[in-house]
Amino acid sequence: MTPIQETIINKKTTNTPIWLMRQAGRYLPEFREIRKLNPNFINLCLNNNLSSEITLQPLKRFELDAAIIFSDILMLPYGLNQKVEFKKDFGPQLGLLNISKISKVDEVDFIEKLHPIYKAIKKVSENNLIKNKNLIGFVGAPWTILVYMINKHSPKKELVKDFFKDKFLINRLLLIIERFLKLHIEQQIKNGATVIQIFDSWAGLLEEKDLPNYIYIPTLNLVDHIKSLNIPVICFPRGVKNYKNYCDIVKPDVVNIDYEVDPVSISKVIKIPIQGGLDPKILLTDKENLKKHALKYLEIFKDHPYIFNLGHGVLPETNPDMVDYLVKIVKDY
Ligand code: CP3
Repeated sequence: MTPIQETIINKKTTNTPIWLMRQAGRYLPEFREIRKLNPNFINLCLNNNLSSEITLQPLKRFELDAAIIFSDILMLPYGLNQKVEFKKDFGPQLGLLNISKISKVDEVDFIEKLHPIYKAIKKVSENNLIKNKNLIGFVGAPWTILVYMINKHSPKKELVKDFFKDKFLINRLLLIIERFLKLHIEQQIKNGATVIQIFDSWAGLLEEKDLPNYIYIPTLNLVDHIKSLNIPVICFPRGVKNYKNYCDIVKPDVVNIDYEVDPVSISKVIKIPIQGGLDPKILLTDKENLKKHALKYLEIFKDHPYIFNLGHGVLPETNPDMVDYLVKIVKDY
């Protein structure tokens, strides 16, 4: 068993494993070099030679316990033929949403369009660097994908006016998203992903009363599907106010906490394995401070099955030496 499987399946509490969200990305000079020559981000995700190489870059530098496939949650709307662009200093920009076109997308065509991602997963899974480690496949949660497809760009703190106006459209779209997310997950697993993480980056935008319809039910459907394929699933409902309710209802194998969650109280109320929490901004400070904060998480979770990670992705300004130091702290603990 890999260290991450020991934590998730055997509930082991020693030798805490570590991987980091966005561990492959702009803070690494070797990534920036490839990125400079590939200005179109979607095309880069669809270049299986480069995306598999980028996925492995952090494993060459650091003693991490997992690789996460270099791709994006927005490859799903792309696969459904909605235009997706990544604009410098702005982020993602999606094109017009044509529900009648989207409802006609064929599953075989969808798989064909995203095939390079699956090929990259296959390549990484066959590489020696991943031996006794996990390869993490991922998707956006149905709610977060819905947000991007309707809102067209990152919502920052709120959704566009009229977001919920057309409930019929929203509910139809949610069902389509759920169906294709399942397909996307199946393909990732078939090609070598050994854990799936579901990113619900905009879970925090919803009021309590809307959680069952937009988050609990569609995410539970995905979680059940992944469990039926015998693969562990990690959920990251960023910003959700009540992580305990979320875990009780959605029942992931692991929950990733964001950096605003108080780790002490969460360790008392949540019994399933926990991942993450450390504020990525701590990596922008100094080694002494990083050690202090990393040890805080390690101490709090010393008797709890825990996978070390951050409370959101590694920031582009991060010095790779700080990541190296963090991995060493966790490994030496
Ligand atoms: O974690 C990893 O190393 C794997 C790769 C990965 C990317 N995006 C690559 C990426 C993963 C898991 C994601 C998930 C993702 N994508 C999320 C969920 C996690 C989160 O951040 O909340 C979301 C919301 C997206 C959508 C997205 N993609 C945004 C908002 C942006 C722009 C912001 C940014 O950081 O630039 C992206 C672009 C993106 N996805 C980059 C990377 C490495 C940066 C692209 C670049 O090089 O310019």
